Amino acid sequence: MGRRVDLLGRNKLPSDISTHNTLLKNKTWRVSENMDYFNYQGDSLYAEEVAVSDIAEQFGTPCFIYSRSTLERHYRAYAKALADHAHLICFAVKANSNLAVLNVLAKLGAGFDIVSGGELDRVLAAGGEASKVIFSGLGKTTAEIRQGLAAGIHCFNVESEAELNRLNEVALDEGTIAPISVRVNPDVDAGTHPYISTGLKENKFGISTNLALEVYKKAAAMPGIKIEGIDFHIGSQLTSVDPFLDAIDRLLVMVDQLTKEGIFLRHFDIGGGLGITYGDEEPPHPSELIAVVKEKFVGRDMTILVEPGRSIAANAGIFVTRVEYLKSNEHKNFAIVDGAMNDLLRPALYSAWQEIIPVERSTDESASFDVVGPICESADFLGKDRELSISAGALLAVRSAGAYGFVMSSNYNTRPRATEIMVDGPKVTVIRERENVTDLFANEHLLAE
Ligand code: LLP
Repeated sequence: MGRRVDLLGRNKLPSDISTHNTLLKNKTWRVSENMDYFNYQGDSLYAEEVAVSDIAEQFGTPCFIYSRSTLERHYRAYAKALADHAHLICFAVKANSNLAVLNVLAKLGAGFDIVSGGELDRVLAAGGEASKVIFSGLGKTTAEIRQGLAAGIHCFNVESEAELNRLNEVALDEGTIAPISVRVNPDVDAGTHPYISTGLKENKFGISTNLALEVYKKAAAMPGIKIEGIDFHIGSQLTSVDPFLDAIDRLLVMVDQLTKEGIFLRHFDIGGGLGITYGDEEPPHPSELIAVVKEKFVGRDMTILVEPGRSIAANAGIFVTRVEYLKSNEHKNFAIVDGAMNDLLRPALYSAWQEIIPVERSTDESASFDVVGPICESADFLGKDRELSISAGALLAVRSAGAYGFVMSSNYNTRPRATEIMVDGPKVTVIRERENVTDLFANEHLLAE
């Protein structure tokens, strides 16, 4: 599967599509900042050095294709920005939990933010270090707490007083001490989609600032608890630094109050949530966010923790699907594709907009299409009103699908889940086999009679 030769000599630089999109949106200064490794060479879309159409031919569609270089580049953006401050970058495993993805990040020294015992198993299976794991989530079970204690994770991010009590009891029962941070809900508006906004007082997450001080005092008196830090996570796909800075200010007031009470915190965790460019959003680059965050910690001896998911993984992946049929009625054109809401749920669940581009560009006349899957739900669409020049059999790529893509997929309509593929320069590796229907039946049983 070598480099494709463009006989018309129209080979363009790898930044071709980034440049194209950027110019369209008049954001020229962001060309290099936002560059990923899914670019056109001539009219063919490439993943790093491999033609996407060759991958689709060999491994079938629908499929997720990830770029190792892009993943690494995004992780390094955080690592570089934080290099001069004590820090831990904990990739939010929920964004993309494939073992190969976690392994690539673990090799760069990443820590991990987990929300279940299953995610802890994945991190350890992928070569991640338990001592760099933080355990988020508001419903940790006793079994999960035992699992985290046995593995020796960095800390549990506590979301309620009831959870704190349980952590204390379980740790004492295990003859150990549970390291904790309190997730404080700073009541700031992240200005994002209501389903992915988590830092308002009406949200179920964290402990309100009024109550958190008391919770810390109780924690300090518990023999099974060791206080490590403080954390917040105010939402996802944030496109401004302001909510982060507001939340930091509010929590630093608390840090100082705690110091007066003799409770010293070693780390401050600003959660995840930095947005990406799906369409015309202009989120700050990780280095811009971290630069202003670090200013807040000048003169403070605190390790900064971050929990990015989307900003590392989203633009490191595409979802590739093939057009089965074209269909038109008096009002609309539909491109019916072999990928569906069970594969990529974000458009159906959040009305999320993700860019859809042809794998082979054509200069044929274009038309506006709704790109829809075969599932019997009106919500089963990948994109609406997209200007495309396509015919049946064409391949389409949905961009920014490396985060909250495969991980949110299901088997609805008894559709086996898609294969996941990682490209590394010229190398192509299947990092998750396509499921087959036998896999889906495997755990089901008929009645005895
Ligand atoms: N830390 C905690 C405690 C979180 O709850 C989350 C995401 C993250 C970190 C990572 O946030 P990120 O950097 O990825 O924004 N399914 C939705 C996103 C849900 C995010 C949930 N929490 C979507 O597809 O947009």
